[in-house]
Amino acid sequence: MKKTLEVKTGTDKYKILIGDNILSSSGSLIKKKLINPRVFIITNKFIHKLYGKKLENSLKKNKISFNKIVINDGEQYKNIKTINLITSKLLEYKIDRNDTLIAFGGGVIGDIVGFSASITLRGINFIQIPTTLLSQVDSAVGGKTGVNTKEGKNLIGTFYQPKLVIADVSLLKTLPKREILSGYAEIIKYGLIMDKKFLHWLLDNESKLKTYNKKYLIEAVFRSCKNKAIIVKKDEKEKNIRAILNLGHTFGHAIEAINHYQKSLTHGEAVSIGIMMALEMSSLQGNILNKNLNKIKDHFQELKMKTKIPINIKSKTSLKKFKEIMNSDKKVKNNHINLILLKNLGKAYLASRYSTKKLDSVINKYIN
Ligand code: NAD
Ligand code: GLY
Repeated sequence: MKKTLEVKTGTDKYKILIGDNILSSSGSLIKKKLINPRVFIITNKFIHKLYGKKLENSLKKNKISFNKIVINDGEQYKNIKTINLITSKLLEYKIDRNDTLIAFGGGVIGDIVGFSASITLRGINFIQIPTTLLSQVDSAVGGKTGVNTKEGKNLIGTFYQPKLVIADVSLLKTLPKREILSGYAEIIKYGLIMDKKFLHWLLDNESKLKTYNKKYLIEAVFRSCKNKAIIVKKDEKEKNIRAILNLGHTFGHAIEAINHYQKSLTHGEAVSIGIMMALEMSSLQGNILNKNLNKIKDHFQELKMKTKIPINIKSKTSLKKFKEIMNSDKKVKNNHINLILLKNLGKAYLASRYSTKKLDSVINKYIN
């Protein structure tokens, strides 16, 4: 089973292919997008060991030559040092403008490779082969690239679209449950911010999603990417509406930064807690009913998603510190934190006016 979607931006368009076991035939899909039959696979040690051969065999079968750059695994390597390492290697290999990079991995690899592609020789083509649920439903689509700095997350980066996205859900079978749940936070996000029908479908199919039923997973990935494509088409460079894709992220990024991006809390787990905080704030603002807030909280808890900040992270922060980190978010304008809140279930908005007292009380509730 394979489903196809198209992402259109002002200047370009590309396909997202979603299916079961499509990595083994990815070579022929990739070949159609190449100018030179030469690619650079950029991945991490772990994914290389798990799935490297499958991708390489398919490239060989289609007479595509390749070099590999295998980096360390982890969010802590999503930094400018790794970009230096990759771009230097590409130049040593004498990459030319008609070559293509393949981002083979989760969101960390995707963001790093997209950024490298956008700056190497002032821009070369790249293809996304996302291997985590989070990257299949979110990060591989829409062209946001970047790295973290000590000041905060994704503060250096570019908007740079891939030429193709290949999402093979069969790769998710090796993904730890924690990572599946991290991806699910981004899936339910689409339901909450813009697609009430999808939200109800997710709530209704909780049991199927819990058992990783492939048919339902493909449907969830497809409907997530479809929603993302709608937003990216309207606002590729996040001048307005695209900001709603960041529901829960301003809170989540602060939690990640307090934890120094350590593996003890994944990006998706931080987003999951952040979404709950954004929903609490929406409820305090009188936008969503308490019973709806509780319905979503119950769903998260039923799936065993994170809804609370772990004690060891809480103990490292205070209201003042938390807000200081939130203040380095990209949505901050004139020193004012803009929040993504819900008007109701299925509709989000960028809130520049809200009660600071209520924001403080939400943060206090979560850090104390
Ligand atoms: P990740 O890339 O760190 O992957 C999570 C873990 O799963 C890693 O250890 C990885 O090696 C492992 N893994 C990957 N595929 C696997 C597989 N098939 N089987 C077993 N293990 C596998 O994390 P992620 O959650 O995919 O991505 C998070 C990153 O994405 C963050 O840096 C975040 O900022 C970024 N992000 C970017 C966007 C965007 O629009 N660009 C959107 C959302 C998130
Ligand atoms: N993940 C948010 C965005 O792509 O805009």
